[in-house]
Parts: sequence; structure tokens; C-alpha cells
Amino acid sequence: MSFENSSVVIRAIGSYVPEKRLTNEELSKIVDTNDEWITTRTGIKERRIAGETIQVSDMATEAAKLALERSGVAPEDIDLVIVATLSPETLSPSSACLIQDKLGLRKVPAFDLNAACSGFIYGLDIGKAMLSTGKYRNALVVGVEKLSAFTNMEDRGTCILFGDGAGACVISYVDEPDQGIIDCQLGSDGINARHIVIPAGGSKLPANEQTLKDGSQFLQMNGREVFKVAVRAMGQACEDILKKNDLTSDDITVVIPHQANIRIIEAIASKLELPMDHFFVNIQKYGNTSAASIPIAIDEANIERNFKKGDLILLVAFGAGLTWGASLIKWY
Ligand SMILES: CC(C)(COP(=O)(O)OP(=O)(O)OC[C@H]1O[C@@H](n2cnc3c(N)ncnc32)[C@H](O)[C@@H]1OP(=O)(O)O)[C@@H](O)C(=O)NCCC(=O)NCCS
Repeated sequence: MSFENSSVVIRAIGSYVPEKRLTNEELSKIVDTNDEWITTRTGIKERRIAGETIQVSDMATEAAKLALERSGVAPEDIDLVIVATLSPETLSPSSACLIQDKLGLRKVPAFDLNAACSGFIYGLDIGKAMLSTGKYRNALVVGVEKLSAFTNMEDRGTCILFGDGAGACVISYVDEPDQGIIDCQLGSDGINARHIVIPAGGSKLPANEQTLKDGSQFLQMNGREVFKVAVRAMGQACEDILKKNDLTSDDITVVIPHQANIRIIEAIASKLELPMDHFFVNIQKYGNTSAASIPIAIDEANIERNFKKGDLILLVAFGAGLTWGASLIKWY
């Protein structure tokens, strides 16, 4: 079977963030920091916190319901669920299975993937590959995080950065060439894994009294090192995907980068020689929501800038693993 005359497109997208806000002002009462430092070093003003009653599957379900409603695809026509998260609700069952149930979908394949902040782009590439076999017609690709559950509120180097939220899209196989998800380029570099880790809670070091005492169930990061690698890897991923597709940065309608730090985004803009208004930024409102950051940003960028069919969108992300990915989307 040939799929040259077909494509996999993003039909619609939706997002959800919890109502509770944690402002820089409030954080400065918890750790030794201040609004001026956080704003100038990261661009973040506040982030959303799910709290005890809102779980990963709740946030993802809200985002997915919106995406389904906007797509016109009925829940019973979803054939596959892919959930990118590094903060799953439980290690087992997968968050994808919980979401399949909450949405009342058919008993379709559902699984989680962990590529940290690059997870949503990994999900798009995997979704595209699976739909391109012709076996599935419509899939939900979700990026969701409850990073507040893994944030050490005594560590000012990390607690200022992260927030909770979800974004979801419906992707569909269509009988039209050269549309939608044009290309994805993914990569990883495990040798530098040590720069972002959650040491405890996995099979190597299950939670115990000691891990609770030393806080090793929380995310730990070498921020300065991550910053440098992020700029290099995201810049390179953008350049590679543009070159491979015979495009230049001038062909791109908007770049939607992972929202980790405004200075990382500015450095990529300068590398691509694009003005900052070519980049969509909402980090000030949500901080770094890891796998949820890109789908939330696509949803908001579309609402704000009203994408038109044919607009070229460049997604780029970087995260723990280390992982990275870029994706070229022709808006459908
Ligand atoms: C974490 C990050 C904001 C720190 O910014 P930075 O400019 O690298 O700051 P440094 O770590 O060099 O620290 C500079 C100083 O500020 C202090 N500092 C760190 N966090 C602070 C805070 N929240 N408030 C006030 N001061 C702080 C440090 O202790 C240090 O003080 P010193 O010079 O007296 O030792 C930045 O490195 C970053 O964003 N890295 C990338 C993180 C990321 O994106 N991770 C996720 C990847 S997807």
C-alpha cells in the first residue's frame, strides 16, 4: 500500500490548566527568591498548581474533551491514545488507560511515553507513524504533567520553574498529500542524563524512609549545564529540520518552542536570526509544564493568532533524558 497521497494532520487541539496560581510573590515567601530574579532569569511570573484533588488524568481528560469537540471527531472514532508525561498519575496503570476510561473511548490501544519535555513531539511522530500504517484513522496525542508533585519546594533552583497542565490534540489520517505533520526529528543523549534526574521512586530506588528524608523523590537539576545544552540542541534541531525540508526560517509562520526559560527562547531566536515576535511565548503564565508546554502553547497561539490552513509551524523542545525534538506542521 502507498501512502504518498495521504497525510497525518492535527485536526484540533485543546488545553487545560488548573485554576490555582502560584505567583513569584508567593514563592518568595517560601524560599529565598524574589520576583525580579525569577522574571529576569526565566521570564516566569506565575505557574498553575493542580493540588491534591486534580490528577493527571483529570487535566488530560479536560484538554482532550475540548480537542475532540473542536475536531468534530466522535469519541467512538478514536483508535489510539498516546500520552506523553514524566509525572504519570501512577506507575501502573498508565495515565493513558485512565484517560481512555474517563473519556469513555472504545477499548483502543493506549500507552504512556516518557521523553520529558520533548514528549509531545515524540508523541506526534509515533502517532504519525502508527496512523500511516493505515491501521488507525484517528488518535489522541496528549502532553500532561503534574510536576508540582515532583518539585522540591525547598530548592529555589527548581521550584520557581515548574507548573501543571495539559494539552491534547486529535490527529487524523487524511487522503491528501503534503499536509499536517510534515516531519519530526527526534534525538537523545543519555550520557548527559545526570543533569536532570528524579533519583527515587523507580525500581532502582523505591521510596523509603531515607528517600523521603533526603527528598530524592523530587526533581534535581544542574540548571546552568541544562541551559547550555538546551540552547545548542534546540537550535540544532531547528536548523536540521529546516535544511532537510529545503526551508529557511523565513518560511516559518511561527515557532512554538518548549517554554523552559525566556532566555533559552531568545538564544534560539538569535541563532535562527528571527525576531522574537516570530516565537510564541506564554511562559510568564505557566512556567515549564514539560510535555504539556507545547500543546498548551499551540492551543493558545492558535486562539491568539488565528492560524490559517497552510501556515507553517515549527515546534521545538528539549528535556530530561536528555531528549530533544523538532516538528514541522502545516496547519490544516
Ligand atoms: C535554573 C536557571 C533559571 C538558573 O539561572 P542561572 O542564570 O543559570 O543562575 P545560576 O544557577 O547560575 O545562579 C546564579 C545565582 O543565583 C542564585 N539563585 C539560584 N536560584 C535562585 C532563585 N530562585 N532566586 C534567587 N537567586 C537564585 C544562585 O544561588 C546563584 O548565586 P551565586 O552566584 O551566589 O552562587 C537556569 O539555569 C535555567 O533556566 N536552566 C535551564 C533549566 C531548564 O530549562 N530545565 C528544564 C529543561 S526542559
